[in-house]
Amino acid sequence: MNLFENPKLRIEQLSESLNQHNYDYYVLDKPTISDFEFDALLQELTLLEKAYPDCVLPNSPTQRVGGEITKMFKSVEHRYPMLSLGNTYSFEDLKDFDERIKKLVSRDFSYICELKYDGVAIGLRYENGLLTQAVTRGDGIKGDDVTTNVKTIQTIPLKLNGNDFPADFEIRGEIIMSHKSFESLNKSREEDGDDLFANPRNAASGSLKLQDSREVAKRKLDCFLYFLLGNEWVENTHEERLNKAQDMGFNTGHFFQKCENLNDVFDFINKWDEQRKKLPFDIDGVVIKVNEIKLWETLGYTAKSPRWAISYKFKAERVETKLQSVSYQVGRTGSITPVANLAPVKLAGTTVKRASLHNADVMEKLDLCEFDTVFVEKGGEIIPKIVGINQEKRDMFAQKIHFITNCPQCQTPLIRTDGEANHYCPNEDYCPPQIKGKIEHFISRKAMNLDSLGEGKIEMLYDNGLIKNVADLFDLNSDQLFGLEKIMIGEEGKSKIVSFREKSVENILNALERAKTVPFERVLYALGIRFVGETVAKKLAKHFKTIQNLSKATLNELLEVDEIGEKIAESVLLYFSKSDHLELIERLANKGLQLEVHEDLLTPKSTILEGKTFVVSGVFSKPRDEIKALVEQHSGKNTSSISAQTSYLLAGDKMGPEKLKKAERLKIPIISETELLAMITPSV
Ligand code: IVH
Repeated sequence: MNLFENPKLRIEQLSESLNQHNYDYYVLDKPTISDFEFDALLQELTLLEKAYPDCVLPNSPTQRVGGEITKMFKSVEHRYPMLSLGNTYSFEDLKDFDERIKKLVSRDFSYICELKYDGVAIGLRYENGLLTQAVTRGDGIKGDDVTTNVKTIQTIPLKLNGNDFPADFEIRGEIIMSHKSFESLNKSREEDGDDLFANPRNAASGSLKLQDSREVAKRKLDCFLYFLLGNEWVENTHEERLNKAQDMGFNTGHFFQKCENLNDVFDFINKWDEQRKKLPFDIDGVVIKVNEIKLWETLGYTAKSPRWAISYKFKAERVETKLQSVSYQVGRTGSITPVANLAPVKLAGTTVKRASLHNADVMEKLDLCEFDTVFVEKGGEIIPKIVGINQEKRDMFAQKIHFITNCPQCQTPLIRTDGEANHYCPNEDYCPPQIKGKIEHFISRKAMNLDSLGEGKIEMLYDNGLIKNVADLFDLNSDQLFGLEKIMIGEEGKSKIVSFREKSVENILNALERAKTVPFERVLYALGIRFVGETVAKKLAKHFKTIQNLSKATLNELLEVDEIGEKIAESVLLYFSKSDHLELIERLANKGLQLEVHEDLLTPKSTILEGKTFVVSGVFSKPRDEIKALVEQHSGKNTSSISAQTSYLLAGDKMGPEKLKKAERLKIPIISETELLAMITPSV
């Protein structure tokens, strides 16, 4: 059939089949077509939807990539309150639960045991088989409408399989982030100098509240569904309902099990207490539910939770050890973290010597005294936690430990802003870890990209008194650098020698020379002004054109810039109010760094590449950034990964084989640097 003969029908067919393939891949883990075939179908659908926007279906799989922005999450009342579960911590508690039920019901019944996913509760509403609303728990009565973001989660069906379900119903479950996604998210946040998420639950919750759904799509959230609401279901047991949910296309996780008696429940708990260590996501217990739905009515609800279900929380492994001292770490941004140094003790397979005390409030709550005997646990967080003090073992003359008042690195009095948990050292330009942090940010890939200075070299230069700020980098010469040596001790105690040999000295000096061509917007980002990320830096550069103008801008002038709010504006004002910063900028200007916007950022040279998306990969005759800038100067767009939306793969030397393979599979034209130049050179 000609694609455009009946585009509406073809769009329907493609959406239907891609949704089924998504389900096979993400939920069943049994794909029936190759990635290549999938991407080809998705590309066909994307093209058709672009040509016939009126025919786009609400359940189109193209929605998964996100794109919509939610400025404010609407508050929505739950149709059924979102209840919680009673918690138990021992088998004794579970025996009581079982006995309570047996007193109230006279017939035989069974339990369904499920995993207790450690994530964020969500209610999904389906009308005529289409996902129409996704609401967070909130206070249990009202929650936030996060539909746009939830639609990016691959395992949540936008349209249900078949048509045998109520016209309007709700299903509830838990949105989680896998360990793998959590680790890669935190790794990239670390690279960008953003605060890290403490655990996958916090990361999932933070991700759901992002305004840009395209960003949510990148976070790779997942969702397990465990509760169908309403009386319209014909299935009489919870087990049948879970199977029904699975048939409709929901991911129920397959981990649930029917248990005929309490002993089976205990076996399930023991099994998962052991096996949870191997799961790719966090669970914090097991949920036990009466299987027969008729009994749910008989048993009823308390104000907060159902009487037909309960959760059993796993015990975090806990040990006792002696506190030796408390030290205070100063982060790159000046935040102070108290750390307990402990007598080494074995816990959940590793030897623990230190535990984070987080902040002054946590220390105060523990009422920590010198040489206390403390209880340490490894919970959901990666770093072990002190959860209490063994009062019986406390020395009667023990002195209480008070939070420090001055920075342990530079002795500046610490500050604590109202409402914030952390103390900060305000001496951002002269406090050693903050200086190093600022310089490390300056040289990072997305900033000045001075990778030949990475891997401990900054520390070495700083420790040898050669650099105290980013401008000092440009005063370095080969005499100072040659022969510098330092033994670095890595995380696992392995040591390595970092030294400046002839080649590395040459590389460093060349890189510093090249840095003088880095465009203004990236220099601005590299300065590390609080809250000025890559995008904000670009906006400010475009708007104010020179660092001179920006440094003189008033609050109102800053607020006039698109998407610059008070927090950013005030931080920019504060930065330029310091004479040290103005001096630093003058030195950078004298060294020849770009502190004015290049015309190319303001006016494109042509619109010849408008609507075209490029992936630039490999080594070219000039730095890759310059090639990318060329694309942008001619109104093209750069992205980092190949997808059905990519127009061209611009291939240089030594390009990774994966990219090439993917482009070939998706039939994306592969062009060379010369071909790009030909494209943007006007024909005569
Ligand atoms: S059932 C009315 N099942 O744990 C019953 N909840 O501490 C509703 N949770 O609010 C909940 N895994 O956010 C249920 N398999 C599971 C669960 C689960 C995680 C969460 C859920 C609930 C909280 C209670």
